[in-house]
Order: sequence, then structure tokens, then C-alpha cells
Amino acid sequence: MFGRVKPLDAILATAQKKSLHRSLGWFQLTLFGIGCVIGTGIFVLTSAGAQKAGPGLMLAFAIAGAVCIVAALCYAEIASMIPVAGSAYTYSYATMGELLAWTVGWALIMEYAIAAAAVSVGWSGYFSGTFLNELMGVQLPLWLASGPLALGGAPGGFINLPALVIALLVTGLLIVGTSESAKFNAVLVLVKVTALTAFVVLTLGSAEFDPARFNPFLPAGIFGGFGTGVGAVGAAATIFFAYVGFDAVSTAAEETKDPQRNVPIGLVGSLLFCTVFYILVAAGAIGTIGGQPIMGPDGVPFPAGSEELARQCVMPQHVDALVCSNEALAHVLRVIGFSGVGNMLGLAAFLALPSVILVLIFGQTRIFFVMARDGLLPEKLSTVHPRFKTPHIVTAITGVVVAIGAAFFPVGQLADISNAGTLYAFMMVAIAVMVLRRRDPSRQRAFRVPAVWIVAPLTIFGCLFLFFNLPIGAMLFLPIWGAIGLVIYYAYSRGASHLGRGIVEVVDDVAGEHTQIPIHPPHN
Ligand code: ALA
Repeated sequence: MFGRVKPLDAILATAQKKSLHRSLGWFQLTLFGIGCVIGTGIFVLTSAGAQKAGPGLMLAFAIAGAVCIVAALCYAEIASMIPVAGSAYTYSYATMGELLAWTVGWALIMEYAIAAAAVSVGWSGYFSGTFLNELMGVQLPLWLASGPLALGGAPGGFINLPALVIALLVTGLLIVGTSESAKFNAVLVLVKVTALTAFVVLTLGSAEFDPARFNPFLPAGIFGGFGTGVGAVGAAATIFFAYVGFDAVSTAAEETKDPQRNVPIGLVGSLLFCTVFYILVAAGAIGTIGGQPIMGPDGVPFPAGSEELARQCVMPQHVDALVCSNEALAHVLRVIGFSGVGNMLGLAAFLALPSVILVLIFGQTRIFFVMARDGLLPEKLSTVHPRFKTPHIVTAITGVVVAIGAAFFPVGQLADISNAGTLYAFMMVAIAVMVLRRRDPSRQRAFRVPAVWIVAPLTIFGCLFLFFNLPIGAMLFLPIWGAIGLVIYYAYSRGASHLGRGIVEVVDDVAGEHTQIPIHPPHN
């Protein structure tokens, strides 16, 4: 099972050939991290989180943030050792072998592609609510603005057209070679952070703010019960989505000055910043308009994204509830009398969320690209467009799949499924860090996880803990998806694998040349 381990030296030769200029400092890395992280999680899923935990959502943000911070430390060590594309997939290939690397790559499809679909749906709420409705005075018919109720959309919904269109538009941009520049990212980070700061200041300082709204703090308890996805930890498992994307920082390790110091500052700094911000935002939303879940007859919150909840949300007594809004933060500001600022915040989300979709689809195509280059997926997929110099085939396939997911499924379910895959990948990275400490203790590490034998196991525990607090459907998605992946692996990838056939490639540039270096075939 662990037979086909890709030699680390071959992977590192890749990095050397690429030899990127080390130009990034801690500040740019932190900005990059914040740019990838702040998105649908805080702007939209705040309502789903409140439906699961009530005011305990604040605790949920803290729990999910803590798991991400220990995972980030593991990422920092391994990224500074293996600073090449492919992230957790590549790290696993170098440590635990091809089969497990395949499962990680396969799970990363859940992380990136499904997350991109979730962010597209989140964007759609702000597009329809703020841009079209509030600013243009146009009401998109419900059947075009939401997925079908049967799949967890709104009553009367059929297709989420804006979500579908934005996913395809972003894909088009990626095909013609748009990548986010550091300057553009900095502007968008400023837009998002300004919007969230305004939200925090206006809500916490508002006359509507009433500490009594935090009572009961944990209406669904800390643990809502296995498979239900409710309670504070159920909300943490969902709201974990708000932190996804920080791992992109680790992929910039090779371009960082003094990575020993700057990569961990960038990773942990952006996460700490977001954690504090998120908790303040949750406090502001709940303290002003309340965040108690809508309870079912059994005294348990209706599942977020469920048909029952959707039916409750159209009732007059619930239309203003936080837990019913598709554009949670703009909605809060409007309800407490700051409609203008609410619309500005909506506009900020409308402008900034597409860049999160871009980073996620880009990440997905890079993973596919590296897997195809390793021979585990058909090499045709890694074909580079002659003019645009982008892996256009794999980008187009990814974009269509993302668009279909976005068109028909609700944001909460997509986020939960994405989280399941991400948690698996994070766990494998923590394992990879420990394996490499044992197997290759003397190799240079630009950053070393402090107290690794505590931090890495804590990461594994944290990931398992959140995973087992996801709703049952999202939990089951991972093994089912994994089983499909294994069938493909044994039917195709294992035989086609370059490593299996004794070839290792050492070039890691989408537009670069492919050099194939024969190695001794591994025994397997
Ligand atoms: N963390 C990113 C978001 O919340 C994926 O949109």
C-alpha cells in the first residue's frame, strides 16, 4: 500500500528548476491569506451557523479557527520543505505513497471544486439581493434565483442562474490566463476588511445591541447529536468553511523571503486575524437582530438548508430572521436601519467573492494538472493551450462541474461537503509531517512545527472531531466519493502512473517543458 512513494529529491528538483524569485514578505503573505479566506463563509454562512448553534456561533468560530491554526502550522512545515504545486496531494505522494496521495487528490476535488460552487451560490445571494434588487430595482424570478426545493433550495426555486453564470465567467477568465495580481488582491482585501469593519463598528455600537439576545447562548447545546450537524460543534464543522483557502498561502512558500519566519506568520497571522474578525461579526449580528435558531416541534433546530426550514422562512414572523437570510450581513445592517451601508457591504461581497471563486477553481486545476502530469489522470487533461498557455481542458471541465453544482445545490450543503474533503486533506498533511520527521529527520526544514508531537496529533484529532460533527449526508459523501475514486485508481490510474512505470517528471510549470527522468521502478 505504501509502495509507490515519489522520491522527495525528484519533487525538489522540480522546485529548483522552477526557482522562483523570493519576493514575498510576511505582510504580502498575510494579505494573500486573507484574500483567499474571507468569502462566503462569513458573508453568507453566518445564517446557517446561527441556525445550528444560535449565539453559540461565536464559540463555533473559535473552535473551527483553532483547528485551522494547528493545521496551518503543519502546512507551514511541509510547504517550506516541499514548496511545489499540488499541495496536500504532493506532500502525501512523497510520504505515504501513491494510493493515499490519490485519495488526497481525490478529496481535494471536494475541497476546491465544491467550495467554488458554494462560493458561487453565496455570491448569487448578494447579486440578486443587493445588486439587482436593492440597487437596480429588479427582482429576479425565484425559479431563476435558487436551486430546486427538492435539493434544499427555496420554495419555487429551479435553477440558480447567477451562480451558474459567475462560475462559468470565472472559468473563462482562467482559461484566457487571468491570475490574480498581488495588487488587485490587496485592493479586494481592503474592500472586504473595510466592509466587515463597518459592520462590526455599526452593530456593536448600535442602540439595537442588546446583550439579552445572547441568551440562551447554546439553544441546541454544544453537541447536537451525531449526524445532525447542529449544536456549537455542528456549527463549527460548517463554519470551518469560512477558513478554507489559507492553505493557498503554503503554495507560495517557494516565493517567500525568509520562509522560516514569514510562511508561519502569513498562515497563522491571516487565520488569527480572520478568527477575531469573525467572532466580532457574529457578536454584532446576534447582538442586534438575534440569532436564535428556528426550532422544530421536537425542540431541535430545523436542519439548515432543509425543506422544513425553507418553508418556515417564508412565514411573516420569520422573514427578518438572521437564519433565513441569503445575504446575512447586509440583511442585518438593513434591519437595524443602515440600508445604505448594508448595500455597500453587499456590493463589497458582490465585487470580492468572485476572486475567491477564482482562487478555488485555479487551485483545483493545478491539482488536476499535477495528477495528470503524474499519469494518474489522462495526460490529455494537462494539455496547455498554445496561445493562452493555460491548462484549458482541465479548467473547462472543472468550470462546468462547478457551475452545475452551483446551479442546483444550496450553499450550506455544498460547504459541508467541501469541508469533509478538506478535513481529510488537512489530516493527511498532519500525518505527512510526522512521517517525514521520522523518516527524514535531517532534511532541512525552513520552518519546524513547535512541539510537533502535540500539534500534529491535535490537528488530526481536530479534523476528525469536526468531520464527525458534520451532517450525516456530508460525512457519507467522503467514503462514497472515495470509493468511486478507488475504482478509477485501480481501473486506470495505477496502470497509467508514471511512477509505477518508472518515470518521474521534474518540471512544475504549466507552460514549462516536460522532462521525463527514468528512475528505478519501485517494488510494489
Ligand atoms: N473561506 C472561503 C469562503 O468563506 C472559501 O468563501
